[in-house]
Amino acid sequence: MIKVLLIGNGAREHAIAEAIRRSPQPHKLYSFMKSNNPGIRTLSEKCELGDYNDMEKLSSFAKNVGADVCVVGPEAPLDYGAVDALAKIGVPSVGPVKELAKLETSKAFTRNLARKYRIPGSPAFEIFRDMDGVKEFLQSLDSFVVKPDGLTGGKGVMVHGEHLKDVSDALRYCESVLRSHASVIIEEKLEGEEFSLQSFTDGRFVLDCPPAQDHKRAYANDEGPNTGGMGSYSCADHLLPFIRKSDLEEAHRITELFARAIEKEHGKLYVGVMYGGFMVTRDGVKLLEYNARLGDPETMNVLPILSSDFIDLCFGITNGALAKTKAEFDKKATVCKYVVPQGYPDNPVKGEKIELGAAAGAKVYYASVDQKPDGLYMSGSRAVAFVGISHDFAEAERLAEEAVKSVKGKVFHRPDIGTQALLDKRVRHMEMIRGKK
Ligand SMILES: Nc1ncnc2c1ncn2[C@@H]1O[C@H](COP(=O)(O)OP(=O)(O)O)[C@@H](O)[C@H]1O
Ligand SMILES: [Mg+2]
Repeated sequence: MIKVLLIGNGAREHAIAEAIRRSPQPHKLYSFMKSNNPGIRTLSEKCELGDYNDMEKLSSFAKNVGADVCVVGPEAPLDYGAVDALAKIGVPSVGPVKELAKLETSKAFTRNLARKYRIPGSPAFEIFRDMDGVKEFLQSLDSFVVKPDGLTGGKGVMVHGEHLKDVSDALRYCESVLRSHASVIIEEKLEGEEFSLQSFTDGRFVLDCPPAQDHKRAYANDEGPNTGGMGSYSCADHLLPFIRKSDLEEAHRITELFARAIEKEHGKLYVGVMYGGFMVTRDGVKLLEYNARLGDPETMNVLPILSSDFIDLCFGITNGALAKTKAEFDKKATVCKYVVPQGYPDNPVKGEKIELGAAAGAKVYYASVDQKPDGLYMSGSRAVAFVGISHDFAEAERLAEEAVKSVKGKVFHRPDIGTQALLDKRVRHMEMIRGKK
């Protein structure tokens, strides 16, 4: 009997839990959550509620249930050293140790590694610990992006032309970043289309999931404030309409080179997920950032179509045997749409009841919701994700849209995600960018 420990309480972890439970091997799932997720609870043998920085509680839960392997969902426990703590009691994890989770938690770590090991795909960038030279570097770039060095919950990156209107705006922002962070990264602003490539690695072998595209803006047509991600899609051919196979190969190569560079630089293997936020530009594929865990929502595009054994995959990752492990994804399109509380992300309604309609045909993944005896209540963040899956892209979109539309309560969603009109827009944008050369 294999005992799998899962850390996390969002829709991403609900999808991970489901993938674990689909395993044909005898197993039991134990979940460590910050707050109750009714979907994960139903799939688990036993759940423990605790803070992600409570290593003692996590370790004793792992010990008590006799966990054989742990899958870490969110970034916070990685940054608190969950993988290190579990390793001490002999439990291997799908996830990097704290020192290597810097791939996500420190954008300076990642950029410096690329520079030192001459990994292609970085924009022009400089890292500053104080304001010396900041103005000169900003002025040397046509357009720029400012990034704090450290976790900011997706809210720290400021882009010229969107959040920063000119160099003096950027200077003020850099000053404020340096008051709370050790350094600030200034990058050339790239133009292109973004995609997420989530890869599993045992530190040497890199195994990619199909690429997906997320939608960060709250409202249709990519308007409104940035969110955790309102939805995402992937295609049956395991490409995206605006990327070529060679773009994907370039991204894969960059991730392989990073894995190799980390081993050289730190003398240990990066184990877990390397999720690259890439951009296809007219000069090829560029890396915007790495995350050290699966994406939310992009997990919902890949794990539901994983047809091989996820538990096997986890052991392949932790045992250094990934090259010999099978991972197969159905050749199906997926469209994921989140239903979120009205006012999200800045001023969401909280504690409001929602009712899911007949989500016939779509998969349902719970996120920020609480199951009470009289129904389902939203806690303020993204509430429930719906995923349509089909050989036919339009059908996948229809399934997701129908399900998300049937939710009753003070909610909204993005009807445009996965529509042909939006895909066409991305394709035209990319054609324009490639044509610019
Ligand atoms: N060099 C860049 N050029 C253009 N846009 C960028 C660049 N770096 C980041 N961005 C934009 O900012 C967003 C957030 O940046 P990212 O590096 O992914 O940080 P985080 O996800 O931690 O906020 C990206 O999804 C992208 O839209
Ligand atoms: Mg990002």
